[in-house]
Amino acid sequence: MTGPVETGRVVIIGAGLAGLSAALDLAPHPVLVITPEVLGEGASSAWAQGGVAAAMGPGDSPADHAADTLRAGAGTVDAAVARQITAAAPEQIAALADLGVPFDRNAAGAFVLSREAAHGRARVVRVKGDQAGHEIMQTLIRTVRAAASVQVLEGVIASGLETSAGRVTGVWVERADMPSGRVLIRGAAVLMAGGGSAGLYAVTTNPPRVRGQGIGMAARAGAIIADAEFVQFHPTAIDTGQDPAPLATEALRGEGAVLVNRLGERFMQAVHPDAELAPRDIVARAIFAQGQAGLRPMLDTRAAIGAELTERFPAVAAACAQAGIDPATQAIPVTAAAHYHMGGVETGPEGRASLPGLWVCGEAASTGLHGANRLASNGLLEARVMAQACAEDIARGLGTPAPAAPVVLTFSPGGETPDPALIARLRRVMTDHVGVLRNEDGLALALAEIAAIEVQAGACECLRNMTATATLIAAAAVLRRESRGGHFRTDFPRTDPAQAHRSRLTLAQAVAL
Ligand code: SIN
Repeated sequence: MTGPVETGRVVIIGAGLAGLSAALDLAPHPVLVITPEVLGEGASSAWAQGGVAAAMGPGDSPADHAADTLRAGAGTVDAAVARQITAAAPEQIAALADLGVPFDRNAAGAFVLSREAAHGRARVVRVKGDQAGHEIMQTLIRTVRAAASVQVLEGVIASGLETSAGRVTGVWVERADMPSGRVLIRGAAVLMAGGGSAGLYAVTTNPPRVRGQGIGMAARAGAIIADAEFVQFHPTAIDTGQDPAPLATEALRGEGAVLVNRLGERFMQAVHPDAELAPRDIVARAIFAQGQAGLRPMLDTRAAIGAELTERFPAVAAACAQAGIDPATQAIPVTAAAHYHMGGVETGPEGRASLPGLWVCGEAASTGLHGANRLASNGLLEARVMAQACAEDIARGLGTPAPAAPVVLTFSPGGETPDPALIARLRRVMTDHVGVLRNEDGLALALAEIAAIEVQAGACECLRNMTATATLIAAAAVLRRESRGGHFRTDFPRTDPAQAHRSRLTLAQAVAL
């Protein structure tokens, strides 16, 4: 093994919206971004269809946006964080527009706003219908590629954090697609933007590598993980057996698309006064119940959108075409799929984790914005705002920017890549027992199975990062003996006002359960 590589740069793990935004916000401080894929591939941000929630419309206000965020979050949103992030939304949209993001606008030049579930009004700024994530990422990638202060290392995966005297001092990295020895890199600071965990589930809308590895490596280094039990299931993933399952954006329901079953019943009307636009967790459970009952839930866009879907929602149209579905003449079969992890590494208002030397932003972080149920399109917003907060806080501690030489890593042979059969087992147990519905026995079974998988993972750090996050989700779900937002316990179906607080757990506590 070679000695540590002193990069002289801020090391950013992950190249989604959060990682790239922070890299740009840190300029002119030199930055090294590590990503397992080519830029733009593999990050959940690029797959986001809806857009960015921001109070931009006439009569709207950040206070109303914050109030909707609090309501959707089912009693555990941190109100101060909701105010901080919603207040910053309009300026973030302006900054993205300045970078060149081609937001949809009407003939008068005003932003076209979509309505999504649990928003009191149309508030989601979008791009080319359902291409927001892709277009925003393309703009950032162009900007990052042109930024002299940013070096991107593609094909490299972070597999662990080095700590010394309780402080994060470096990052262990490996080659992403073939076994290699680990290399330790050190930098001026470490920023984790490694994404969420929904790919730990067998049915997910997330890109394949998004399997809780960032959260897992922070937890293994000793960071506190907050709200791990709160996983959001998107109600309308297209159900044609594809892995990952393509998303049918909630904006379709905002445009009037309805949910029906194979009997032609519009079942959401009996479930919630807001019907298809009820909070996401409620719609997801209703879809799940229809599926379990063999009633085949479907999203019917025919009357509301019809043949215009191809032009107005090109990503959904392409996914349907690939699955052999014509939404102009057929309803789209849908299923609830793991979509977003509200939980993550606990961070404060500057993005600092409980471990000194570590900053976290994006889905890997748990800021308190989302509570038990994230309001639609608040994810990209949070990533932007907190990336900036992290960058500013890191920069304050760095002093005068000094140029740094390009980093060249040499990997030795050795190491292990995760066994796909073990990953498949892990994903199955998460879907079956830590999914939309949970109970004590199933969670106990899941914890035992995750522990067995971890033993078989041996020295494979990447897989151990996944099992760490899976353990934390299942353990936090055991400890929350109530139902709230995305966490539903069939053995404790009520919401208990005495448990209206965020959860905090270390990996050691989770393992000791
Ligand atoms: C969607 O477009 O339905 C997803 C948006 C989000 O997850 O925030």
